[in-house]
Amino acid sequence: MGKLDGKIALVTGGSSGIGLAAAKQFVHEGAYVFITGRRDPELASAVKEIGHDITSVRGDVANPADLDRLFAQIQREKGRLDVLFANAGVARYAPLGKITEELYDSIFDINVKGLLFTANSVYSATKAAVRSFARTWTTELKDRRIRVNAVSPGPIDTPGLNELLSSSEAGQQRAKMIAATVPLGRLGRPDEIAKAVAFLASDDSSYVTGIELFVDGGVAQV
Ligand SMILES: NC(=O)c1ccc[n+]([C@@H]2O[C@H](COP(=O)([O-])OP(=O)(O)OC[C@H]3O[C@@H](n4cnc5c(N)ncnc54)[C@H](OP(=O)(O)O)[C@@H]3O)[C@@H](O)[C@H]2O)c1
Repeated sequence: MGKLDGKIALVTGGSSGIGLAAAKQFVHEGAYVFITGRRDPELASAVKEIGHDITSVRGDVANPADLDRLFAQIQREKGRLDVLFANAGVARYAPLGKITEELYDSIFDINVKGLLFTANSVYSATKAAVRSFARTWTTELKDRRIRVNAVSPGPIDTPGLNELLSSSEAGQQRAKMIAATVPLGRLGRPDEIAKAVAFLASDDSSYVTGIELFVDGGVAQV
């Protein structure tokens, strides 16, 4: 018995490197695997190498229409998807100040938008990207004696949150439920975030850089 016997899996970017190795492993463990990539010859050679229980679908993860087509094909042919490895990605580097809009668009379209539309959880993904900026910039800006820190608020009583809640059906109820998940038992106030930001902005935090400060009533700790 393989660990993935009978499972239907999708590996985006499955024609090379990590994705190809994962697709091979998945098939070895008993799964039926769909792989994607933008280049036909690489896809064909991956299919040949793996040999069975594999289908390639050409497509760009940065193009939501390609993703729609891909998921429709999986649905049509297999009726479900059990495992998703959102692996497709590219590595391109440039230091702060040298990042062109073209570079930004191309890498975010693939690594962030592509992954997001493949898996779909937009808010957390954008916040994870921000957290990652802070980590990278900490090193990149240290010679200019610039400190970089990220603040991660929990649920804070703001017009933005209220709008979100009131746009849903049981807004008030939902606010209560959110507050109940906070170890401190309530929503935070904007000034509680402001004080933490002021601390990080001031010399009081002169030896603090690269952190993610959770000001969230304990939500992330439990
Ligand atoms: N290698 C590392 O050291 C390393 C470390 C940390 C994280 N990662 C991450 O691991 C993932 C795989 O990396 P790898 O080193 O295995 O890369 P790789 O050998 O270059 O393979 C990348 C795969 O993704 C596909 N791909 C790239 N852009 C795509 C797009 N827009 N739409 C669909 N498929 C696309 C490529 O096929 P096409 O080019 O034909 O589209 C290829 O199949 C990436 O997300 C990378 O950022 C890699």
